[in-house]
Amino acid sequence: MTSALSRRTILAGGCVLVGGCVVGVAGCSGGDRPPDRPASDAPIPVSEVPVGGGAVFADRDVVLTQPTAGAFQAFSAICTHQGCRVNEVVDGTINCPCHGSKYSVEDGSVVMGPAPLPLPRREVTVDGDSLRLG
Ligand code: FES
Repeated sequence: MTSALSRRTILAGGCVLVGGCVVGVAGCSGGDRPPDRPASDAPIPVSEVPVGGGAVFADRDVVLTQPTAGAFQAFSAICTHQGCRVNEVVDGTINCPCHGSKYSVEDGSVVMGPAPLPLPRREVTVDGDSLRLG
């Protein structure tokens, strides 16, 4: 049985974690999607979302952030410019690799274009030590 974590791609701090292997993201494109997407309602451990930052869950097309301890936000991981998937959360911004757009971890607003609109919000609820997407 494959655990949800091993099927999950986590992008944070400039690294990609795939099944326990770490690879660089410089050559990543935003259009790939694993064929075995996990159930969207599988919980995500709170510990996977750093305080003051966040993480991209590419297999769910979602970015989870925790601007301050215990305050979680969820956004679409699809850039509002031309549809690439954002690939990292660094220094308070959610970053798109295609043309350099940056979004705030606090509210998904555009910090730097060319993105024309904020990242759309997704629902997230805290359930003990886990996060559930709506
Ligand atoms: S698609 Fe994200 S900046 Fe262009």
